[in-house]
Amino acid sequence: MLINMLQLQAHGDERGLLISLEKGRNIPFEIKRVYYSFGTKGGVVRGLHAHKKLKQLVVVVKGSCRFVLDDGKERVDVILDNPAQALYLNSNVWREIHDITEDCVCMVLADEVYDESDYIRSYDDFLLYVNDMETVKVEEIVND
Ligand code: TYD
Repeated sequence: MLINMLQLQAHGDERGLLISLEKGRNIPFEIKRVYYSFGTKGGVVRGLHAHKKLKQLVVVVKGSCRFVLDDGKERVDVILDNPAQALYLNSNVWREIHDITEDCVCMVLADEVYDESDYIRSYDDFLLYVNDMETVKVEEIVND
């Protein structure tokens, strides 16, 4: 599975650092929503869902966590502990967030507003969904 990690350019001087996220510059979509999770209790696992259409960019601005990404074929771990890095998450990727430090602030930029009907919240449903998509693709190729 391809992991899309963007290195964000920081404006730095003797006072410290600043990163700006801008549509058309370093964000590959129109930003319609920004949300952030924080205050996560020790041992809690967040995420545990996939999106049918939504695209997201994740920046851990403080603390650290481990994203487990699964496309239905392969599972990979990505540790996010650097506010100058952004993880691009395409649709149809199951994500779990583990090892969330208590100081972790995880900011997410999204290309759509919140829509519960875009969520797949069961791993079994996710596998059925991505396998169905594969079947449709194969049928398209056969019918071409
Ligand atoms: P949830 O999807 O469970 O968060 P996580 O993926 O971090 O485990 O969301 C927690 C709650 O917040 C849930 O009731 C849905 C709500 N929510 C919104 O209202 N708007 C949003 O943009 C998001 C992401 C969640």
